[in-house]
This record gives sequence, structure tokens and C-alpha cells, in this order.
Amino acid sequence: MTESRKTIFHMSDIHIGEAGVRIEDFRHIIDYIEKKENEVTNPLLLITGDLTSDGLPEEFEAFHDVVDGIDIPTIIVPGNHDERNYGAARFEEFFGSRFKRFEDEVVAIYAADSAEPDNDAGHVGRAMYSEIEDFFSEAQDKVRIFALHHHLVPVPHTGREFNVVEDSGDVLGLLTECNCHMVLNGHRHVPWMWHLNDMLLYNTGTLLSRRIRGAITQVHTHINIYPDSVEFIIRDKLGNEKKFAESDLTF
Ligand SMILES: [Fe+2]
Ligand SMILES: [Fe+2]
Repeated sequence: MTESRKTIFHMSDIHIGEAGVRIEDFRHIIDYIEKKENEVTNPLLLITGDLTSDGLPEEFEAFHDVVDGIDIPTIIVPGNHDERNYGAARFEEFFGSRFKRFEDEVVAIYAADSAEPDNDAGHVGRAMYSEIEDFFSEAQDKVRIFALHHHLVPVPHTGREFNVVEDSGDVLGLLTECNCHMVLNGHRHVPWMWHLNDMLLYNTGTLLSRRIRGAITQVHTHINIYPDSVEFIIRDKLGNEKKFAESDLTF
């Protein structure tokens, strides 16, 4: 089999502080990723929000203690739970900007904060569109990835829709024009993929929350990028892995 060019460890919705979420379990998964990094090419850790339950300082601190010192590139953006109690200020203290841009020889990733203080609904906002467009237009030879907390398209088996990104139509139109390959997000706590035009919309499950909305268990995702394709492998809390999806990549 062709060797992969890059592996993204994608996790979301850790919810430190929520009843039943154990910091030891989070530490155990990060330890696993640190061991696994030697077996994969060019690893990156992407965390798409809801690090905490209520955006409280002690929750951010506990989360930070676990990821601090991890020696692979890490991209973290906040989710709606992190923006409770004006948690955005704490987030920035620990993890820097709420918007992140990352590029290497394989990928170009624009990660946006789609949350707002004390509002569970998702929002990207027109003010960001030209920056996103400029970023991707400079990266047309790379795998182009947009990451955020909220979903752009409703996810099945997650109940009635009430906090999809408010401007999702315009954002999807923009990303399509930018030839974006994939959108990576969390929030719904259930793994799911849509193929929309030529774009993959991947919703990873919750890493540790008990609110799994009927999904089998808590998971994170290994996204292996090959020269012309990509595969998504989900790994559950007990260490079981299964291929969730694969797709061609076109440039
Ligand atoms: Fe969540
Ligand atoms: Fe969320």
C-alpha cells in the first residue's frame, strides 16, 4: 500500500468538568497519540472545541496540563461550551488565538472559532470570508481543510436541528469556491460524513462525553492522507479501531 503523507489525529468534545468525564482517560488517550506518532508520517493533533463543560478556569487548566508539552503540532479552537462564562478569555490565555492557520508541505488548515459567548448556535461570519478565501487561494497545491466546532449540515440521529452554523449556506458556498477538500468538526458527538459536491464534511464523535446520542461509544479519528486519497479510522475508548470512510482526493 502507498505510504501516507500525513496523519491528523482529530478529536473533539472532551468536556472536561462534565460529570463522568475523567481527566485520567484524557491523559491516557494523549499518551497513546504520543506513542503512535512514531508510527505515522507527519502527525498533527486537531482539537475542534468543547474542551470544557462550562468554560471555567479550572477546566481549561486541567485540559492544558494534559496537552502541554505534547511534541507534535497541535491546533485547538474553542466550542460553544468553552465560551460559557466568558471562557473565550481563558481559552486565549491558554491556547492563543481562537482562529488558527497551519500549513506544511501537505496540508493547509484554516481553523475557525464558530462559537459565541453564551450562545450554543454556530456562526462563522462574513467578516472572516475574505481571509478564508485568501488563505485557500494561496494553497491550491495542498490538501485544503476547514476546521471548526459546529456542523455545517445537520447530522442524522442527533435529534432536532437547532444550532447548525447560522451562515452555513454561505460558508459552504465559499468553501466550494475555494476548492476545499474537507471540513472537520465536532459538536454533535456522533461520527458522520457527508459528501457534498467534491467536499467531505466529517463530524467526529465526542472523545469522552457520556452524551453520545445513541452512537456506540466515545471516539477520536485518525485521518490518513495519501497522495490521491484519504481514509478516516475511528478509535473508541477501549482501543477498537474501524475504518469509517475513505475517499479520493482531487486537485
Ligand atoms: Fe460538545
Ligand atoms: Fe458543542
